[in-house]
Amino acid sequence: MDGNGRWAARHGNTRTFGHEQGIEAVRSTVEGAGEIGISWLTLFAFSTENWSRPREEVEALMGLLVYAIEAETDNLMKNNVTVRVIGDTGMLPGHVKEKLHSCIDRLKNNTGLKVVLALSYSSKWEITEAVRKIAADACASKISPADINSELFEKYLSTAGIPDPELLIRTSGEYRISNFLLWQIAYSELYFTEKLWPDFRKEDLFEAIADFQCRERRFGMTSEQIAG
Ligand code: IPE
Ligand code: MG
Repeated sequence: MDGNGRWAARHGNTRTFGHEQGIEAVRSTVEGAGEIGISWLTLFAFSTENWSRPREEVEALMGLLVYAIEAETDNLMKNNVTVRVIGDTGMLPGHVKEKLHSCIDRLKNNTGLKVVLALSYSSKWEITEAVRKIAADACASKISPADINSELFEKYLSTAGIPDPELLIRTSGEYRISNFLLWQIAYSELYFTEKLWPDFRKEDLFEAIADFQCRERRFGMTSEQIAG
C-alpha cells in the first residue's frame, strides 16, 4: 500500500492526512476481496524500515492503526473476516499490541476472508529469524541438517500455514518489492499500478485480478505442458 505521502502532497495536505485517507482504500479492498470470494489478503501496512521515519509520522501511523482497528472491528465481524499479523510485533507499542490482539481474538471464529496484516514486517527479518530458529532446533537435536528442505523452512516463516500469494499488487508506480515476502513470492504474478494508495478501491482490485486471469502461469514448465 504505497503512495499516501504523495497523495497528500498533491492535495496540499500533511502526510498524516494521506495515511488517514488510506484507511478508506483498505476498507474498500477488504470488502471487495470478501465479495468475490478471495481466501487470503495480505496488506503490507508497516515495514521494519518504516521505524526509521520521523518520530511524529511513526506515532501518527500507530495512532491510526489503533483508530482503524477500533472503527473497523464491527464491520470485519459482520463480513466474517479473520485477522492475523505477521512481523516483528514485539516492536509495537503495548497499547497497539493490546488493541490488535483483542481484535484478532474477537474475530477468531469467523470463516470468511483471512486478512494478514504485515506490521513491522520485513522479509530479511523473517528469513533471518527462521534461520535462527532452525539453527537452535538443530543444536537442540530437534531436527537434523538433513531434514532441512523448503517445506521445513516454510514452517519456520511467519507465514507458516498461509499459501503463497498468487498475485502481488503494488500501488503508486514504484517498481520494487521493498523487502516483502521475498521467499513467498517466488512464483507470484506481479501487478503494478500508478494509482496512489488512497485512491485505490475494490474496482482497482478487480482490474488487477482480471489482468492476472489473462496470465499464463507456467511454474518453469512449457506452455504445452500447462495446456496438457
Ligand atoms: C504508504 O505510503 C504507507 C506506509 C508506508 C506506512 P507512503 O507513506 O510510503 O507514501 P509515499 O511513498 O511517501 O507517497
Ligand atoms: Mg512509500
